[in-house]
Amino acid sequence: MHPFKLLVLTGIVPVLAVKDYLFRKCDQNPFCHRNRHYAVEAQRPDFVTPYTLANLDTADPAHITGTLVKSVGDQTVDLSLLIEIKTDNTVHFVVDEPNRKLDNPALQASRYSPAGDILDHSQVSKLKPTKNVKVSKKDGAVTISFGDGNEVEITLSPFKARLLHKGTEQVALNNRQLLNFEQLRKKDSNDGWNSWELQDNAWSDSFDGKTDEKSRGPEAVALDIDFSNYKHVFGIPEHADSLSLKETNSESGHSEPYRLFNVDIFEYETQSPMPMYGSIPFMMASKTDSATGVFWLNGADTYVDVSKSSQGVGSHWISEAGKLDFYLFVDDKPAHVLEAYGKLTGMAALPQAFAIGYHQCRWNYNSQSDVLEVNANFDEASLPYDVIWLDVEYTDAKKYFTWNKDQFPEPVEMLGELDETKRKLVTIIDPHIKAEKSYFVYDDLVNKNFAVQDRANKPYEGHCWPGNSVWVDSMNPAASEYWASLYAFGNDLGGDALNLHIWNDMNEPSVFSGPETTAPKYLLHHGGWEHRDLHNVYGQTLTNRTFDGMLSRYNGEQRPFILTRSYYAGSQRIAAMWTGDNQADWAYLKEATPMILTSGIAGMPFSGADVGGFFNNPDSELLTRWYQAGAFYPFFRGHAHIDSARREPYLAEEPYKSAISNALHLRYQLLPQFYSAFYEASQTLAPVMRPLFFEFPEEEAVYAIDDEFLIGDSLLAKPVVDRGAKSIDVVLPGGGVYYDYFTGKAHRANKITVPTELESIPLFVRGGKIITRRDRHRRSAELMANDPYTLVVAVDDSGRASGKLYTDDGISYGYEKGHYALAEFVYESGQLKNKVTHADKAFNDLNIERIIVYGAQASTAHAGKTKFDLEQTDAGFIVRNPRFKIAENWTLTFK
Ligand SMILES: *[C@@H]1O[C@H](CO)[C@@H](O)[C@H](O)[C@H]1NC(C)=O
Ligand SMILES: *[C@@H]1O[C@H](CO)[C@@H](O)[C@H](O)[C@H]1NC(C)=O
Repeated sequence: MHPFKLLVLTGIVPVLAVKDYLFRKCDQNPFCHRNRHYAVEAQRPDFVTPYTLANLDTADPAHITGTLVKSVGDQTVDLSLLIEIKTDNTVHFVVDEPNRKLDNPALQASRYSPAGDILDHSQVSKLKPTKNVKVSKKDGAVTISFGDGNEVEITLSPFKARLLHKGTEQVALNNRQLLNFEQLRKKDSNDGWNSWELQDNAWSDSFDGKTDEKSRGPEAVALDIDFSNYKHVFGIPEHADSLSLKETNSESGHSEPYRLFNVDIFEYETQSPMPMYGSIPFMMASKTDSATGVFWLNGADTYVDVSKSSQGVGSHWISEAGKLDFYLFVDDKPAHVLEAYGKLTGMAALPQAFAIGYHQCRWNYNSQSDVLEVNANFDEASLPYDVIWLDVEYTDAKKYFTWNKDQFPEPVEMLGELDETKRKLVTIIDPHIKAEKSYFVYDDLVNKNFAVQDRANKPYEGHCWPGNSVWVDSMNPAASEYWASLYAFGNDLGGDALNLHIWNDMNEPSVFSGPETTAPKYLLHHGGWEHRDLHNVYGQTLTNRTFDGMLSRYNGEQRPFILTRSYYAGSQRIAAMWTGDNQADWAYLKEATPMILTSGIAGMPFSGADVGGFFNNPDSELLTRWYQAGAFYPFFRGHAHIDSARREPYLAEEPYKSAISNALHLRYQLLPQFYSAFYEASQTLAPVMRPLFFEFPEEEAVYAIDDEFLIGDSLLAKPVVDRGAKSIDVVLPGGGVYYDYFTGKAHRANKITVPTELESIPLFVRGGKIITRRDRHRRSAELMANDPYTLVVAVDDSGRASGKLYTDDGISYGYEKGHYALAEFVYESGQLKNKVTHADKAFNDLNIERIIVYGAQASTAHAGKTKFDLEQTDAGFIVRNPRFKIAENWTLTFK
């Protein structure tokens, strides 16, 4: 959702001009401007990086320290360098400025690191330094060798470093000499450093009529991190761009760097490097024989320039403040690199089963009776859905944790009625708190000093939905506890209902009156931090506290579901995200796929885009195509702006209504497959909606494909995203057979063309995989919990197939104590076996009601003494009602 003032502006100014006016380009952001200038200076033939490494202590080869000396003319400054070798081929570099002293004792003197707030500390403790680390020194260079054929080679003077894997250079640091660490200086001192390092606006500058006072002066950190011999880099969401990142500072790609700065961006453009609502500073490079990644652990405003040459892909990272702190990962495959990143920032939370069903939202369902009517209409039309959502209008005058009692007189009763079909309610709770005396949340924030402060140490007041507002300071432990307590069981928000879940929106934070629609960077947080230091992690810390609150609301017995708009690395442990305010336009339907793929590759797999488009009204064809695409989004929600016409799926006319209904039923049929993919994400962080290169890294031709993807490792989909499309070309990677999901027709070409009538959804089962479905129509996901399964065995050309099914109660954390079932189905040599890896007895009654086999021939089957007749089909055969259990080992032999 978005500021009204901007709505007014778009009417008179071209859209582009609005963005130009609102958001700083690199040139308009002094720290970025300085560092892009540095990159120009560094190209001069006589330029030598002013950094050398001294005092190396290599006594512990997995934990090397040294002094990074910066010298220009006769000035020097000593920085500290730490290099740690961790498990999983992970190298950690930190450059910090020791012993900083500020004139203002109220400000935190040290540089901020998000590590404490965002890493997964339960796992990080296990990332012990790798054993078998060795150091060797020669000729001004130090080499650390570790793990499976990895080396870090460091040149001391001038300072450079290289990461090698199996003898091949993967990453080069400071090779282009862009390392820049702006040390603390005295204001107005002409201190003999390069004149271009300090500009007039280094201490204070204005943008869009708003002044930013930088009380600590310039303190940017920057470094070139180049991926040697790679052609593609991915990640660093959030941008509305392609999956394979483009060059920046370039005529062929973008002119601006990719910017990581969480903002409430209005009517964002597609194919753009502009900042959006979330930031994950994780970039992955992949090629046919290796993959590598960098995680730039910094919470401040950050720009990343990407350049490509015959030597590889260069990246230039520039952050306004904080430590220069980053991790490098290297391995043979992108999956291993992402898993190593997951060990640091956490694997994805396993969602409740309902959360991967369909969500129905709009701004706004206006009243209790409206909500219950929509609920009944879904049933009337025999359409499944799991969650109905309430946007801001349900509150009393935008005061969160209250209800508009005229429209919603009995919210707990409403929740109870939804629960009759196991449906849930999500209400929006934003971090801006209406500045109104005697509104209890406001009073508490102000009286207890729990609000983010302005320079005068008063609660900062800015404009948002409720008018004048204050913001909760999630960096303050007591404020965090307070925020969590607002979700308590039994309170006004939802009484004793357990089917209430939460949407944290506007948590960038969005401040309509603030610079770039967000909070001024000079605001103060608990601990003496400036907002500048941690802007990009604010949204996550807030959502983290919401998670704690919901967890205690459920007494730890349910997994919280939270949707967040702002996110950072680590948010995958806490919440789902969506791509914000898109438009009912084909370009945005198209853009949603690469955005969700990028989110997955950056470790945030539970993601989606507003189905139908948030702004404006989709026509029936666009809406239908969007439901068909959305059926594959890990987070599947229809949402619409307050000014748009109602568009709930049951309102569509034929033939659109049937096509949308089929898409919804397809999603519910595939829930076991999605749930198993989420389980995998909870173990390894592998994306649920997965780019082709992730699964087929040895095929260079698939690296740039971002309109096609896999669900887990076994279903290949390519949504139709063009108006009036009559056919679509689909690439079938891996060289094997694929089966049409709906007909079982086998395809063996590398590229096929399939027709795309309105009701067609191009979807294929990969040969060699066994997928699991639930075919019975129910009203919601939870009502399917005891339904029998259908197996689809897609035999490959060597006569084999396999697949995993994970299930648990879909609600609680019981799975952590072993209350789950994990079955592995294997087909080979004419036998289908279930090899149960783990089976809690609670799942003993789950049966298989049908086995569909593609790509094999047989006329009978038996399991022990029991014989089965097979139904022959064009694509293979079907075993009906075998009554096998998923939690028992069994073997079915075909003849
Ligand atoms: C929330 O943040 C704290 C650190 O500030 C961390 O210990 C905790 O694990 C986080 N919660 C989740 C669910 O990640
Ligand atoms: C199924 O067989 C495997 C060996 O293939 C065994 O480890 C497992 O315990 C068995 N599970 C059950 C439920 O019998």
